[in-house]
Amino acid sequence: MADILKAPRGTRDLVGSVLERFVEIESAARSLFIHYGYREIRTPLFEDRALFERSVGDATDIVKKELYRFEDRKGRPLALRPEGTAGVVRAYIENRLDADRPVARLWYAGAMFRYERPQGGRYRQFTQLGCELFGAGGVAADLEMIELACRLLERLDVPVELKINHLGSPEDRVGYAAMLKAWFGERHEALCGTCHERLERNPLRLLDCKVPACKAVAAQAPALVLGPAARHELDQLLRGLELSRIPCTVDPRLVRGLDYYTGMVFEVTSPQLGAQDAVLGGGRYDGLVEDLGGPRTPAVGFAIGLDRLAFLLEQKLGEAASVAPLVYVVAMGESAHLPASRVARLLRRLQEREALIRGARPAWIEQSLKDRSLRAQMKEADRLGASYVAIVGEDEVAADGVTMRCMASGEQFLVSLSGLGDNEAIEALSRALEKLTVARRQI
Ligand code: HAM
Repeated sequence: MADILKAPRGTRDLVGSVLERFVEIESAARSLFIHYGYREIRTPLFEDRALFERSVGDATDIVKKELYRFEDRKGRPLALRPEGTAGVVRAYIENRLDADRPVARLWYAGAMFRYERPQGGRYRQFTQLGCELFGAGGVAADLEMIELACRLLERLDVPVELKINHLGSPEDRVGYAAMLKAWFGERHEALCGTCHERLERNPLRLLDCKVPACKAVAAQAPALVLGPAARHELDQLLRGLELSRIPCTVDPRLVRGLDYYTGMVFEVTSPQLGAQDAVLGGGRYDGLVEDLGGPRTPAVGFAIGLDRLAFLLEQKLGEAASVAPLVYVVAMGESAHLPASRVARLLRRLQEREALIRGARPAWIEQSLKDRSLRAQMKEADRLGASYVAIVGEDEVAADGVTMRCMASGEQFLVSLSGLGDNEAIEALSRALEKLTVARRQI
């Protein structure tokens, strides 16, 4: 036997209920983002390596240690995208999206790649759902971003905590970096090799080292003291969140692991996630568009880790998460195949119509395509968790009808479709399902 190849370390196949959660979140997000005026954007999975070095920062873990770098056949230095913001900013500049509207609102969903040590909730290929808003500085835009992120989590009804901070003005940050350099310098021997480099190149990054000993030191580090302008901005934002009834806590050591942030930053965590507890993160990055060659443009955004959010949703829904057919259509004998196909088609039409009315997706109707005994087919319906079965056997073919049966109550009756056109037959099936549902509710 040939060796079985496995998915590369840190990657996984999305199948079954995990994928269903992904799709559910994506579709909730899509409708919410459109509702807030965001337009979708899709950027390449790989970019010029320099894009990430110049945006995320060449002293960050993401670029220094975790970037999937490669050269193509012509020797061009490229990298798989570790996050979405850099590519979206590049696309915003390259496609002159600033010319479209004074404020551009964009959203994206897709795979990101980071060479991290895989563990629960941390993958080397993972999916982010993100929003970026260009062209508006100020508290109203910050508030819109946070509200949008929280609204999605609220819709999905998963318990989370919001943490906020402000990285201060450029002067505040210069002063803070000097302060951190001196403070960590005194604790030099307690730090890892990478932190020694951070101390020289980018002291702010000392606060997001993942090595436990460094983390313990960082937890004691002095917090950033905001100047009056940044303090005012943060206070305004907190007031706005209060008015929007979004509970949050200020975490003065929240600096986020990417270099492009310039003002407000936020993160949403969940205690149910263990060590990798961040569900989403974001903030303001007013310098990035200009740094990458575009016009001076304020910007703010966030990205959700879909893998982690899907896990939370799965935890919440548990058993109820499993999707099951509404009706399983059973056919017995050669002559029943075509009549059973018609019943399945009519039931699907009925569900499409109902879904349109309810604004939901049509319920699952499955036809058994295996010529097996009634017992075997009923067993399959039960295994799938079907609510109802539609049986077409010899008797039904003779009567030009279908037996509709409720799996929970065992109640069943013949529905005649004799002489009925499609629309009338759909009505007859609809009435039958209604009757079985009413009886089922009474058990
Ligand atoms: P980030 O905090 O690096 O921010 O990532 C956002 C989210 O992606 C995290 O909160 C986490 O849920 C998820 N995530 C990150 N790494 C992994 C991983 N290895 N496995 C699974 N999930 C992961 C950004 O990427 C920024 N671009 C966010 C942003 C957008 N800021 C402004 N606009």
